[in-house]
Amino acid sequence: MAFPERFSNLPEYAFPRLRKLLDVHAPGGPVVHMTIGEPRHPFPAWVGDVIADSLEGIGRYPANDGTPELQTAIAAWIARRYSVNVSADRQILPLNGTREGLFNACLALCPETKRGKPPIVLMPNPFYQVYAVAALAVGAEPLYVPATAATGDLPDYASLPPEILERVSIAYLCSPANPQGAVADAGWWRDLIALAERYDFQIFADECYSELYRDTPPPGALEIATQIGAHPERVVIFHSLSKRSNMPGLRSGFAAGGPDSIARMKQLRNYAGAPLPLPLQAVATRAWGDETHVEENRALYRAKYAIADQILGDVPGYSPPQAGFFLWLPVADGEAAAVKLWRETGVRVLPGAYLAREVDGATPGADRLRVAMVAPQDEMRDGLTRLRSCLYGE
Ligand SMILES: Cc1ncc(COP(=O)(O)O)c(C=O)c1O
Repeated sequence: MAFPERFSNLPEYAFPRLRKLLDVHAPGGPVVHMTIGEPRHPFPAWVGDVIADSLEGIGRYPANDGTPELQTAIAAWIARRYSVNVSADRQILPLNGTREGLFNACLALCPETKRGKPPIVLMPNPFYQVYAVAALAVGAEPLYVPATAATGDLPDYASLPPEILERVSIAYLCSPANPQGAVADAGWWRDLIALAERYDFQIFADECYSELYRDTPPPGALEIATQIGAHPERVVIFHSLSKRSNMPGLRSGFAAGGPDSIARMKQLRNYAGAPLPLPLQAVATRAWGDETHVEENRALYRAKYAIADQILGDVPGYSPPQAGFFLWLPVADGEAAAVKLWRETGVRVLPGAYLAREVDGATPGADRLRVAMVAPQDEMRDGLTRLRSCLYGE
């Protein structure tokens, strides 16, 4: 049997790799999970009622492009959040979570060649792993650009040589960033969009952590692109209810961008996509129209940022996350630190290297741990306190 070569060099996925690393040892205390970014705050109480009220939708094929109600609720949210008016039916595509959208957008929008060669897809390093697999799936060359403390925790795409930039078709960017917790400010976005205009590539802005912030809402790529009058197809943004509304199991998000990009994504989805079941679209419609539960959620994360800052604030090299729910902690060696922490305390965290690729002998994030602040507050405080004394002393 012949199988494709294009995915043969993929490293093992972070979580099975972590299980192999840690599960050969017994935990050194009551287990606290701080590895996976699965929100554990409550989702809104009305979810069950909305599903019950729309249950007859299970008996129908769902609208492929999303119901008009959902499209309209998303467009209204974008207008409120970013002061950008988008067409509900031409510029929005509801998704089954951002992950599939980030993958399928590359299939739908990445050209076969650029300047006669395979195109290049830029992504930060470390990064959310679907970006790389999307690039490989379309025969593009993924280019992993360091996003470390030295570059402000965001990738410095502008520093790439012109001969590389000329072959770029798509640049992924995650803001607020997983795992670094960094936020691209308006000036950063303006510079990236100007670079994309100059070299004619698209920006895929993964903004699924956009609503988990301390005080100031992070600016969005579509917002800045609109303000500076960029090409209408320049930016596609990706948003999710997984983090904003604590509904990772709903599998609901959206892409928004230029009408040509969204039409191409819809076309692919018509052939090969799996639309969200109608009762779940009804939940999503209600969720995008409600900010009360989002404010409550943000308040819970604010309390967690304060706990983290209190416990870890004086650790050399600690940089408080600007947004999102990950800590990105400095250690000598991420794998060794994760094993030590597990064996001595039972706290489970992810070595930073598991989210990165080695390039020219260096793996950005190999000297980091990613710590998800998703557990209930007391559990999280306990986990961080044990982490602090195990890895950094009292
Ligand atoms: C950076 C980033 N992008 C996208 C996703 C996918 O989220 P979902 O598919 O649940 O919307 C995640 C989930 O953890 C993430 O961390």
